[in-house]
Amino acid sequence: SFLPVLAVVAAYLVGSLSFAVIVSRVMGLSDPRTFGSKNPGATNVLRSGSKAAAVITLLLDAAKGWLPVFLVGIYGPQYGLRDGTLAMVGLAAFLGHLYPVFFKFVGGKGVATALGVLLGVSGWLGLATLLIWVLMALGFRYSSLASLTAAVLAPVVYVLAGDTFWIKNTSVTVGITVMALFLLYRHAENINRLIKGTESKLGKKAAPPA
Ligand code: G3P
Repeated sequence: SFLPVLAVVAAYLVGSLSFAVIVSRVMGLSDPRTFGSKNPGATNVLRSGSKAAAVITLLLDAAKGWLPVFLVGIYGPQYGLRDGTLAMVGLAAFLGHLYPVFFKFVGGKGVATALGVLLGVSGWLGLATLLIWVLMALGFRYSSLASLTAAVLAPVVYVLAGDTFWIKNTSVTVGITVMALFLLYRHAENINRLIKGTESKLGKKAAPPA
C-alpha cells in the first residue's frame, strides 16, 4: 500500500522545517547559519544570546521528530502500519532535519530531532537519553560532547533495557543505530575541535556575524 510511503514523505517534510532558522527569523535574530558554528540548531541559536529562542528551537526541533513516531505508534496499527514504518518515519524526520528540502538541503546535526524520535519510541528511552545529555553537559560544558555521548549510548540503552522498559524491535534498533551514525558523522568538525581543545563551551556567546 502507498500509506507507509505517504507517512515517510510527510515525516521528511516536517523534519525539513529548520526551526533554528525559522524561529530566529520570526524573533528578529541573526540567521544561525552566519555565526558561531554556523549550525542551524538550538546550541548555536543560544550563541546569539537569546535563551528563549534556543529553548523554542529545541522544543520545536524535538517535536517534529516526536510527532510522526507518536502518530504511527498510536494510529498506525489500525491502518496496518507497524514497527518498520515507525522506524522509517523517525529516520525520515531526522534526515529531513539534516537535509531539509526547504533549505537547499543544508540542515543541522539532528540532536534535538533524534531526542524527539527517541521520546516517540518510548518516553523512558527519551528521558534516559536526555539525562545522559544533561549530566555530560553539566560535567564538561560542551553541547557537542554531550550529544555525541548520548547518541552512542541511546542504541545501547535501547537494546539493553528493551523488553524490560519497552518492547524491543529490530526495525527500531536499526533505525536508531543509523540515526546515531549520521549524528556522529555530522559532528566531524566538533570532534576535531574537541580534540584540538578549541570547541566552544556552553553559555559562551558567539562573535556577531561580520
Ligand atoms: O546541536 C548540535 C550540538 O551537538 C553541537 O552544535 O553549534 O556546537 O556545532 P554546535
